[in-house]
Amino acid sequence: MNVKETVRTNYGEAAVRVKTGGSACCGSSPSSACCVDPITSNLYDSSQTSEIPEAAVLASLGCGNPTALAKLNAGEIVLDLGSGGGIDVLLSAKRVGPTGKAYGLDMTDEMLALARENQRKAGVNNVEFLKGEIENIPLPDNSVDVIISNCVINLSSDKDKVLREAFRVLKPGGRFAVSDVVVRGEVPEQVRRSMELWVGCIAGALRDYDYIAKLAKAGFDSIDIEPTRVYSIEDARQFLAGEGIDADAISKEVEGKFMSAFIRAEKPSSTTKSCCGPTCCS
Ligand SMILES: C[S@@+](CC[C@H](N)C(=O)[O-])C[C@H]1O[C@@H](n2cnc3c(N)ncnc32)[C@H](O)[C@@H]1O
Repeated sequence: MNVKETVRTNYGEAAVRVKTGGSACCGSSPSSACCVDPITSNLYDSSQTSEIPEAAVLASLGCGNPTALAKLNAGEIVLDLGSGGGIDVLLSAKRVGPTGKAYGLDMTDEMLALARENQRKAGVNNVEFLKGEIENIPLPDNSVDVIISNCVINLSSDKDKVLREAFRVLKPGGRFAVSDVVVRGEVPEQVRRSMELWVGCIAGALRDYDYIAKLAKAGFDSIDIEPTRVYSIEDARQFLAGEGIDADAISKEVEGKFMSAFIRAEKPSSTTKSCCGPTCCS
C-alpha cells in the first residue's frame, strides 16, 4: 500500500472505533501506545467542547486547536483540510455564524460518515463535508477566507501541492491558520523516523524552515510558526520502549525538537507585482 492508502485505512479504522464506542487512537488496538497522548489530549477547553456533540470530541485526532488561534469573522467561509470527525468544522461554523459557512474536506469515507453524523447531532446547517484530497481541493479559485487544518498536512507526501492548492482556493488576503507537527533543526534520520512513529501512524513532519520555505514558494507572505506544545523524550518513552528503542540513547537528539505548532500565513491581497518602470509591466 502507498502512504495515502495506509493513512486512509488507519483513519477509516479509527472512525469505525469511535462509532462503536471505542477510542480514536490510531494504533491497531485501543490500548496501543500509539494513542498519541500527550499530543491529542486536552486540546479544547470546556467552553468549546460543551458546544458540540461528544462524539465529535471523542473523534478528535488533532495536535492543536486552530479555531482558538485563528481569527474568524462572522460571514466568512472556512475550509478545514482533513476534517476527520468534524470537531474544528463545527467550532468554525459557530464562529462564522449563519451568514458564513464551514467546509470540511476528507478523503476517508468512514470519517466523512462520522462527521456528517456529528453535524446532524449538532443541528448546524452552515456546514458541508466534501469528499476529496487536500492535494486536489474540490473548490474554485479565490473562494475561501480562512484555511484551517489540524495535524493533517504532515501526513501528505506532496506538501508543495497541498500548499499550492490552499493558496489557489484562498481569496486574496485570505488566511492560512493551521496546527501541525514540526521539527525544529536537524535530527538524525533514524531518530526522526522513531519519533514520527510516535507522533502519528504515518507522519512526515516538516522542519520549521522547510515549512516556511514551502509556504513562501506557494506565494504566501506574513508567515509565522508559533510552537504550542514542545515534546520531551518522557512523552515518547513508553512508546519507544515498545518499539525496542532506547529513549535515553536518543534523548539529546529529541529534546525540544519535536513540537505541535500553529502556522499562520496570508495570501497577498494583490498577486500582481507592482510596476517598476514603463517597460517592465508587460
Ligand atoms: C490526524 S486526523 C485529524 C482529523 C481532524 N483534523 C482532527 O483534528 O481530529 C487526519 C485526517 O485527515 C484525513 N487525511 C489524511 N490525509 C489526507 C489527504 N491527503 N486528503 C484528504 N484527507 C486526508 C484522514 O482521513 C483523517 O480524517
